[in-house]
Amino acid sequence: EAIFGEHRKNSKGFDLFQPIDQDAFNELRYHFSNTQWHATPLVNHDVGHKQSFDVVNPANHNDAIGSVVFADESDVLRAIDSARIWKEHGVRSRGVILNRAADLLEQNSGEIFAILCREAGKNAFDAVAEIREAVDFLRYYAAEAISQKASKPCGIFACVSPWNFPLAIFIGQVAAALASGNAVVAKPAETTTISAWFASKLLYQAGVPREVFQLVPGEGATVGNTLTASPKIDGVCFTGSTLTAQRINRNMAEHCAPDAPLIAETGGLNCMIVDSTALLEQAVKDVVRSAFQSAGQRCSALRMLYIQEDIYASFLSMLSGAINELKVADPWHLDTDIGPVISEQALNTISTYINDNADNIVVSFEGEVPNDGYFIPPTVIETTGIDALETEIFGPVLHVAKFKAKHIGQIVERVNASGYGLTFGIHSRIDSRVEKLVSSLNVGNIYVNRDQVGAIVGSQPFGGENLSGTGPKAGGPHYLSKFIKSESTMLNL
Ligand code: NAD
Ligand code: ALA
Repeated sequence: EAIFGEHRKNSKGFDLFQPIDQDAFNELRYHFSNTQWHATPLVNHDVGHKQSFDVVNPANHNDAIGSVVFADESDVLRAIDSARIWKEHGVRSRGVILNRAADLLEQNSGEIFAILCREAGKNAFDAVAEIREAVDFLRYYAAEAISQKASKPCGIFACVSPWNFPLAIFIGQVAAALASGNAVVAKPAETTTISAWFASKLLYQAGVPREVFQLVPGEGATVGNTLTASPKIDGVCFTGSTLTAQRINRNMAEHCAPDAPLIAETGGLNCMIVDSTALLEQAVKDVVRSAFQSAGQRCSALRMLYIQEDIYASFLSMLSGAINELKVADPWHLDTDIGPVISEQALNTISTYINDNADNIVVSFEGEVPNDGYFIPPTVIETTGIDALETEIFGPVLHVAKFKAKHIGQIVERVNASGYGLTFGIHSRIDSRVEKLVSSLNVGNIYVNRDQVGAIVGSQPFGGENLSGTGPKAGGPHYLSKFIKSESTMLNL
C-alpha cells in the first residue's frame, strides 16, 4: 500500500504526496531495513552466467543491500536487435499502461523509498520528492502524447541515466520514449542499478511489452558506449555530465543516421545573486536548500553565490548559523538533512578539492559527521567569481564572492561566457534589476526570491542551454517533439 497517506492534487491535476511522518517512517524501517534486492539485466535473451557484484549502502558500509549483474557488450547488441517499436498499442492504450505504471509506483512507494535511501543515499525529503516526480513524469508524458497525437515514433531509443535521480530521471526518459511509441534500451547508472531495475519490473507489471523495453545495466565506458555508438539506434536520451554528452555526440555523428536526435541534459556552474534589498532570512534558507539539499548532488544546485558587499559579513554569519543547524547523517533516519555522497571516488575528489582550498574556507561545519559512510560536511569557500571555478564540484560545497551593485552587468557577462546555463537564482526586491537579469542571462531555469532546485513536472519545464543541455526541457510540452518524427502529407483531390 502507498505509505504517504492522503494524496492531494496540484493545479495541473497530478497526484502529490504528503510528507512522510515518523510513524510511517518507523514502519518502513521495520519492513525494509534488512531487505536485499538482486538486480539483473532485463532483456529478451538468456544472458548466461555472469559475475554478480555486492551493493553496499553509501551511508553505512555494514549495510549490504543486495547484488547486481551487469550486461556485457554482446547483450547490448542482442537487446538492440530484438527491440520492437510499440506499435500494437495506440497512443491511448500506451497512456493507460503508463498510468498503470504510475499507480504501481505509488502502491510500491514504501519499498522504493527504502531502495532510494539505502542505495542512493537519499534522505526522506528527497526520496518522497523523487517518487512523486517519477509518477508525475509517467502521467504527464502519457497525457501529452495523447493530446499531441504522438503516432510516428523515431524507432529504438537508447536511454542513459545518472545516479543522482536514479528513479525520476530514469523513468522520465523511458516514459517519454515509450509514450511516443518508441522501443527503449535503457542503461542506468552503475551505482544505482537496483532502483532502475525495481522500477523496470513495475513497467512490465503494468503491461509494457518485453520487446519494447529492455534494461542493460553496466559500465558507461563499455555498455553505455556500445549502446550509444550503435548504428541501429534511432535516438539517444542522455542525462549526465557534459563530457559524456560530448562523447555520445561524437559517437552518434560517426555511427548513426544524421536525423537521429540526441537529447542531452548535462551539468552546470549555477549561480545566485543576493543583493542588499533581499529578505535575508528567506535568502539564507533558499541558499542552504539550493546548495546543500541532496548533499549538493543536483545538476541544478547552487555552486557560486554572489552577495552584495554591504551585507556580505552579516549574510555569511547567518549562513554559518543555518549550516550548523543541519544534521549530517545516515538518511535511514527521518531527521537527516545531508546524506552521503554516492561513492568513495566522489568522496575523494570532493575532499581533495576542499583540502586544496582550505585557506579560503569561510564557513565550516562544526557538527558531527559519521565516518562509516561517504560523508562530506557542508563547506563554504570564498573565491572571486564564476571564472575561478574550473569544474562542477558535485557535492556540498558552496562558493561565495562579494559584489558591488555597479558590477552586476559584469557578473552576467561572466556567467554567459562560462558556456554553462542551467539554473540561476536571484534574491532582490528591485523589480527593474530582476527584469534586466532575467532578460540578459543565457540560462535555462531562473528562480526569483526562492530556492533554485526541485523543478515540478508540468509546471516548471527543466533544462539548460549551451554546455548544460540540448533541450527540449524535460517535463514541458515540447519534450516529446524529439521522440517523434514529423511528416507532412499533401493530397491533391
Ligand atoms: P556521467 O556522465 O558520468 O554518467 C551518466 C550516465 O552516462 C551513466 O549511466 C554512465 O554510466 C553513462 N556513461 C558514462 N560514460 C559513458 C560513455 N562513454 N558512453 C555512454 N554512456 C556513458 O554523469 P554522472 O556522474 O552519473 O552524473 C552527474 C552529472 O550529471 C553531473 O554533471 C550533473 O550535473 C549531471 N546531471 C544533469 C541533469 C540535468 O537535468 N541537466 C540532471 C542530473 C544530473
Ligand atoms: N530537476 C531537478 C531539479 O530541478 C534536477 O533540481
